[in-house]
Amino acid sequence: MGKCSCHPEIESSYICMKHNVYLCEECLKCRDPELFCKFRSSCPVWFMDKKMKGLDEEKTAEEQICKVFFEPDNKEAEIAKGASLLDAAQKADVHINASCNGKGSCGKCKLVLISGNVRKEDTALLSDNEKEKSYVLACQTFVQGDVRVKIPDETIEKKLKVAGMGKEVTDRLKGLVSDIQPMLKEISLELEPPTLDDPVSDLDRLHRGLKKTGCDVTRMNVGLKVMRELARAMRDENWKVNVSVIRKKCSNEILSVVPGNVRLPSLGLAIDVGTTSVVVYLVDMEDGSVISAASGHNRQAACGDDVINRIICAEKNGVAKLSKMALATINNLISETLSAADADFKQIKNVVISGNTTMAHLLLKIEPDYIRREPYIPTVSEFPILKAGEIGIKANPYAAVFIMPGPAGYVGGDIVSGLIYAGFHREEALTLFIDVGTNGEIVLGSKDWLMTASCSAGPAFEGGGVRWGMRAEDGAIEKVSIDPETFHPRISVVGDAKPRGICGSGMIDLISEMLVKGIIDPNGKFRPDMSHPRMKKDHDEIAYILAFADETAMEEDIVFTETDIHSLILSKGAVYAGFTVLLNQAGLDFSMLEKVIITGGFGQFLDIEKAITIGLLPDIDRHKFSYLGNSSAAGAYMALLSDEYRREAGKISNSMTYIDFSGSSRFMDEFTSALFLPHTNIENFPSVKIR
Ligand code: FES
Repeated sequence: MGKCSCHPEIESSYICMKHNVYLCEECLKCRDPELFCKFRSSCPVWFMDKKMKGLDEEKTAEEQICKVFFEPDNKEAEIAKGASLLDAAQKADVHINASCNGKGSCGKCKLVLISGNVRKEDTALLSDNEKEKSYVLACQTFVQGDVRVKIPDETIEKKLKVAGMGKEVTDRLKGLVSDIQPMLKEISLELEPPTLDDPVSDLDRLHRGLKKTGCDVTRMNVGLKVMRELARAMRDENWKVNVSVIRKKCSNEILSVVPGNVRLPSLGLAIDVGTTSVVVYLVDMEDGSVISAASGHNRQAACGDDVINRIICAEKNGVAKLSKMALATINNLISETLSAADADFKQIKNVVISGNTTMAHLLLKIEPDYIRREPYIPTVSEFPILKAGEIGIKANPYAAVFIMPGPAGYVGGDIVSGLIYAGFHREEALTLFIDVGTNGEIVLGSKDWLMTASCSAGPAFEGGGVRWGMRAEDGAIEKVSIDPETFHPRISVVGDAKPRGICGSGMIDLISEMLVKGIIDPNGKFRPDMSHPRMKKDHDEIAYILAFADETAMEEDIVFTETDIHSLILSKGAVYAGFTVLLNQAGLDFSMLEKVIITGGFGQFLDIEKAITIGLLPDIDRHKFSYLGNSSAAGAYMALLSDEYRREAGKISNSMTYIDFSGSSRFMDEFTSALFLPHTNIENFPSVKIR
């Protein structure tokens, strides 16, 4: 609860997650954008308001069922009259890009209406050309009868450039763990058959055999299923058996006893479940080599780009739906790795999963609701070892699953995993560890102490809230330089395809170049004296044309507007303010940092110099920066093979001091100061020279 930012006399539990301000019920009904939140179209609170309105509409809608047919997937959904095309797509399991989860603010959920009666909300996110071609936004179009739609090329997800992939990367992991200690140990036994002189029970005989191998049987649990199958298993291959034992914190458990001493090679999985993408490594548990790897989009992205939207979607549609989406992604990728290795899923006996707190909750069907409500408490921070079968992971049903623990609702197991790989918590050097996505997670410290925080970076770095923004998929402009004389851009595009949009690294390049070349001023506004064939009016705004229509995949100009620049400034301001406040809490400043480690997918194409120019990263010695790749997946790999690293994960999670920025006036002050290029206080950026 907190005081409403408009009506301080009213206490409210509604909080705008983007701007960290409380809003009362009165404000939720308010339609005047000047009054409380000029960014309301991208604000989850607005969504809640809209949801209430939607419920009223639902009540009055006729109970009529309509059919929606999707081309080219050839899938169909039956849905109530008045429901949106996005609802229909989610019901039909048709994946379309829906970054804002139906708030109508991202403009990514484009469909082409082929036939049928619909009601459309007017939107400025479609060009006149697109409207002429019957484009609609799925979330803003409501079915009134049977409808046929086509998913256009730009709405279909393309191959994502995911960090942590490639043989060179995975080969480097081998050797990080010298003493392999899987959670699930397989022991081959050749037991003495019973006699009249040795009439102990089968289970006691098994315990006796295990004890001889050095196994501690004093705290050994055995399930009923194992006991039921034990007599046959021991006699089928003449008292030769393979026993699977899982090592837990305070006890061990026999998970299976199978006849014979022949064992297929044991495999393990290190899985990084990101909000945007998922990475799976299939690992040989004997020598630690990564046999095959696969990556792909997290299917939950159909419910929004960030964790807040995913939680809202789980509240609306049930957590099981989100779990199913994540499992479908993970299991498809596991199948891919298994077929590349010509292996069987039953060989997978050990699994480590690393993901942020919301991803872990959703995967395990644990309600994540309270993560987004003050005081932002997760249901579970440290998970017991689970079995693959109970989660639904495609592995041997009794495979042991370790979920990386996380210290807070907005700093999760992916960050703990990243630290295991980065290792700076074992060193003297003062280090800043950064993982930027829709949420900016930061860890500061050394071997003596660790502080952590997260700041809502917003969706801009992932392409959300930006007219032509997209993730680093094929067709994304990832690098930009601008000729200082002609002001024409030189671009490089992911996958060498025709450009379809611009991703986070491309946007940082572009803003930095426009600032340095004098196209925009430090407020992020186009200079009024700027006139050039690259400048045009787009929806009543001045815009810079990055690629002309005849060069692009959609035959539309790809432009960057002042609103887009502002979205980026908000995101970079939140991240930089996060660094500043965290250092300040520790009584430190940027000059004291010895290392800055950047991790995650966003960092892979980041130009450090340009990120400093726009004020995203601090203006310190460039040699202090390093990029670590997908540290979450690498840390999961290390924990998969080592008992020591699994224990270390718990210690890291428990030792971090979490700093909450919500409601922090210091954070808001720093954030406001950072809404300038590079910063209100230019003395913080002495090396940045702008025209
Ligand atoms: S505009 Fe439809 S999902 Fe964002």
